Amino acid sequence: MKITPTHNYLLPAPAALVVGIHQDKTQESLDLGNGISKKLQERILSQLKEFASSFTGKSGEILYFTGSPDDQYQRKVVVVGLGKEDDWSLDRCRQYVSSGIREASGHLKERTINLTLGTHFHHISDFDLVQAATEAAMLATYEYSRKSKSEPKYDIEELRIIHNISKREIKRRIELGETFARAQILARDLVNAPARDLTPSGLADAAKEVAKENGLEYEILGLNQIKTHGMGGLLAVSAGSNEKPKFIVIRYRPQEAIKHIALVGKGVTFDAGGLSIKPSESMLTMKCDKGGAAAVIGIMSAITKINPKVNVTAIIPATENMLGGSAYKLGDVVTFMDGQTAEIHNTDAEGRVILGDALSWAVQKEHVDKIFDFATLTGACVVALGEDIIGIMTNNDALAGKVIESSQETGEKMWRLPLDDNLRKQIDGDVADFNNTGKTRYGGASTAAAFLEKFVGDTPWVHHDIAGPAFRNKADALGPSGATGVPVRTILHFLKTWY
Ligand code: BES
Ligand code: ZN
Ligand code: ZN
Repeated sequence: MKITPTHNYLLPAPAALVVGIHQDKTQESLDLGNGISKKLQERILSQLKEFASSFTGKSGEILYFTGSPDDQYQRKVVVVGLGKEDDWSLDRCRQYVSSGIREASGHLKERTINLTLGTHFHHISDFDLVQAATEAAMLATYEYSRKSKSEPKYDIEELRIIHNISKREIKRRIELGETFARAQILARDLVNAPARDLTPSGLADAAKEVAKENGLEYEILGLNQIKTHGMGGLLAVSAGSNEKPKFIVIRYRPQEAIKHIALVGKGVTFDAGGLSIKPSESMLTMKCDKGGAAAVIGIMSAITKINPKVNVTAIIPATENMLGGSAYKLGDVVTFMDGQTAEIHNTDAEGRVILGDALSWAVQKEHVDKIFDFATLTGACVVALGEDIIGIMTNNDALAGKVIESSQETGEKMWRLPLDDNLRKQIDGDVADFNNTGKTRYGGASTAAAFLEKFVGDTPWVHHDIAGPAFRNKADALGPSGATGVPVRTILHFLKTWY
């Protein structure tokens, strides 16, 4: 899909026109501007009058009809309800673009779409709208199919964003939106890939490709090097699988950078639970357990285009969690790279076990001064916050606040969960420094975070538990069921804003 800015909707090809109307504004004179002919505006108004009982402009309502008879170039008009004018937001804009484009392309099968974006939007930056619209268009029409005879549902040749602000600036924001969306789509593809196709080695290959394409330095440790570095956590979890573990590092080093941030992603390409095996229904979607790793690779794929002045190191421990004859066992004691030890009380709490080594690496080898980690870590986080919201746990309120601020711009929802001494006590070790599960099943997202916290020392750290939103059961405005690629856009936004 080519996305282009335009000041005028007229073009010498048949197309659909997508228009947004605010609630209770359907009977007012329209001001679509931008060269939309009087005749077409009249036609839209008359249709709005005719369908006044079913279309009131509430968010999500859709009305479509053929264009004015003397306007050969606007075959179809799709009118989308935008909700109340005061409630207008970037999120509403994403929903508008998603509904309008899906209708014009998926249902009406138009391949060229004109999208109005330039009028009646007061309290939000026009440039932000353009970027949000671009991202929404690309993400809403994302598909993942392995059907032998499937046609894509959305086949858009060109999306033309109609706006009367500076063409150059729109173009810049379209490009930025494309960069963000492409990165997120890469993350989705990696998560949607079945475990059989994307093993730890496959994940390492994907990381390598991204690094090479963008001129980034990379290092991929195999089994022997993982042993040499004493990564007992990663070794233990991978022992039950025939697939060899990989420890993946990608480094972005811009010239003027002083600060250094680590992005650590959980890369369990399939989580069967190990000997503490998962019930079949819970195992079904466990290809999603590489969601953190996929997000980190997605972010790195866009980083040279965002060009933040900060060193960024991506760190991904990659493994399967299986139950082969050599699998790690309950009661085993694991020694991590930094020398700390943990007793395994549940082999299904494997994320924290591999992340222990990855966080140690960030602190001891890379000497970073900030750590973000991303992990489909706990079912408890999904119980606490539902399927849409990322759980944030941190040792640094100010830093977490900045990430959450970015998430409010991108619409990838986040909510803080606590860490406190009573929760920390839950993982006190019996024979080792800690146990890998809490003593009760309560506060499971926080006790998992308390475990990770042991490995970051004083380094400011923000943990993102993405178990809920990484993979969804049903479609929403920004994509089909399956992988979402969160929180790629938020972290890119954070890096762009602060560095
Ligand atoms: N990968 C799972 C967490 C998960 C659950 C991800 C649902 C996506 C959707 C993780 O490794 C796990 O199994 N965690 C256990 C921890 C427990 C044994 C302490 C859980 O949440 O049940
Ligand atoms: Zn698990
Ligand atoms: Zn897991």
